[in-house]
Amino acid sequence: MKIIDVNLLNRSYSIQVEDGLLASISGLLKQSNIGQKWIIISQHRLMELFGFDLMDQLNQQGYYIDYITVPTGETAKSMIEFNRIISQMIELKCDRSTTILALGGGVVGDVAGFVASSFMRGIDYYQIPTTLLAMVDSSIGGKTGINISEGKNLVGAIYQPKGVFIDPRILDSLPREEVVSGLGEILKYGAIKDESFFSATSQHLENLDTFPFENAIARSCEIKAKIVSQDECEGGLRRLLNFGHTIGHALEAHFGYGQLRHGDAVSYGMISAGWISKELGLLKRNEYKTFKQSILRLPLPSLNKFDPVSLLPFIKNDKKTVSGILHFVTLTNIGSASTNDNVTDNLLISAMKEIQ
Ligand SMILES: NC(=O)c1ccc[n+]([C@@H]2O[C@H](COP(=O)([O-])OP(=O)(O)OC[C@H]3O[C@@H](n4cnc5c(N)ncnc54)[C@H](O)[C@@H]3O)[C@@H](O)[C@H]2O)c1
Ligand SMILES: [Zn+2]
Repeated sequence: MKIIDVNLLNRSYSIQVEDGLLASISGLLKQSNIGQKWIIISQHRLMELFGFDLMDQLNQQGYYIDYITVPTGETAKSMIEFNRIISQMIELKCDRSTTILALGGGVVGDVAGFVASSFMRGIDYYQIPTTLLAMVDSSIGGKTGINISEGKNLVGAIYQPKGVFIDPRILDSLPREEVVSGLGEILKYGAIKDESFFSATSQHLENLDTFPFENAIARSCEIKAKIVSQDECEGGLRRLLNFGHTIGHALEAHFGYGQLRHGDAVSYGMISAGWISKELGLLKRNEYKTFKQSILRLPLPSLNKFDPVSLLPFIKNDKKTVSGILHFVTLTNIGSASTNDNVTDNLLISAMKEIQ
């Protein structure tokens, strides 16, 4: 088992990664079971795949457990679903001691985490991510939230889980396109912090059947955990995690959430950001070429034609733009990143032409 610590004083917790770990969760949580009510928040299909077995396991070990499901897709991250979960928890006689297990991808993790942050002013929760994206990204760092009609993730809280349990074997049932999307985020960690991890990951993309998920997930978690430990609230260092996300989010918003997967949009966003890094004289021409080729080893869906100018408003409205300044993340080398406040509209437009 690989154990990665997220060091945040009294909010510290650990991420545990191991093939088959799901079967031993009752033992791992034993210390925390003080007779309280436990609630699994998940989705129907995930309950059938893993949740009911997990409930049996916990029941047999004397846990007092119930479950609540949310729909699939972004609709689960809504005020309506948030209200419904809270009401259901009251009906199920949950109280301040109740502990939530968020079993699912980023959607479940985000809404369940937000419920945990606000139910009776905050209760404990654990993340059990079931998508690759959630394993390497959304389950770590405590960002929780829901969407409103004005935009995605506009209501939320930074509220850390008590622990994260990652069982890479869970990925066996995940559709391949979802795996590919998560691999984009894994490449991102290498790009910003670890060149040899970036190139090894990219080599392994040749044959996904032999991809070393356990190691790659653990290394990604290590990189994210270290950054979050130093900058919990996105003051500076945490911004580096947004590499590829400025243009990525604009592509997602333009094509419609659900049309282009988050990790795929980030992969295209990374190519654009790499191109900007080259134009700014940071990344050498041949480094950029290697970088682009490495990302394109991913079987990404092709992008329909779009007008880059029409994406600029999404970039300006992005949460990463603070007081009108866009803190754009560039690469200084493959494996090291920094933010740059002088990226012009013209550069952004040309960078988007690069991925058409
Ligand atoms: N909190 C953060 O820091 C953070 C970071 C990145 C993304 N996010 C959020 O994460 C969400 C996207 O998360 P996602 O990509 O995990 O998508 P998702 O949660 O919608 O999961 C994708 C689909 O896969 C299914 N699924 C999940 N695990 C499965 C499994 N093991 N086998 C079969 N099917 C499975 C789900 O039911 C769903 O239909 C977005 O809302 C995004 O805003 C949050
Ligand atoms: Zn992301």
